[in-house]
Amino acid sequence: MTGGARFSVSTCQNEIAGPANSGWNRRRNRLIIDKIAVPYTQRSATFNGAQSMSIQLTVNGSPVTVAAAETTPLLHVLRNQLDLKGARYGCGLGQCGTCMVLVDGEPVYACTCEIGTVAGRRITTIEGIGSAAQPHPLQTAFLDEQVGQCAYCLCGIIMSAKALLDRSPSPTRAEIVEALDKHLCRCGAHPRILAAVEKAAAMLREGARR
Ligand code: FES
Ligand code: FES
Repeated sequence: MTGGARFSVSTCQNEIAGPANSGWNRRRNRLIIDKIAVPYTQRSATFNGAQSMSIQLTVNGSPVTVAAAETTPLLHVLRNQLDLKGARYGCGLGQCGTCMVLVDGEPVYACTCEIGTVAGRRITTIEGIGSAAQPHPLQTAFLDEQVGQCAYCLCGIIMSAKALLDRSPSPTRAEIVEALDKHLCRCGAHPRILAAVEKAAAMLREGARR
């Protein structure tokens, strides 16, 4: 999950910097795998090991207790222990945002967040904000705008957008770009993503007026 564009960088500029399969990107991906992804795997290896401890937290409104080494990435616990697959593994480096969840309402990269640091905290994942039967306005707007191409980035982006709309019901386009700039989208869906967030903001304001 590398090679995508930030919201503050045009897709055109990103193409110039290096398309997905260029030698530049292959070298960069190799560097990431060699230097950083391996330590991530090593940390995960302690997941059910001797250092495991009992950790309590609240996930999507429900209290849960997990057994994990305190250095285990939150993402690993969510996906492998709690079967919450919405937060995805992209880079594992805190660079792409596919793993974004909310911790006490603030966006946090779950891939680099150690479970021990969020004991007792409130975690919200995409599964906690709406369902197919009762979608959150952000989910409705993203479907209405047909935002997704591969959609790999979208769960994380929706979580950052939710944090933004919770604190700022009428964000400007610049504020949305700033809030989403922690995310990469390699499909270039940025214009549809921005339109969907604006649409969701309008839906939420309309709902609040009723
Ligand atoms: S997986 Fe890329 S920031 Fe977490
Ligand atoms: S990465 Fe494919 S839609 Fe964003």
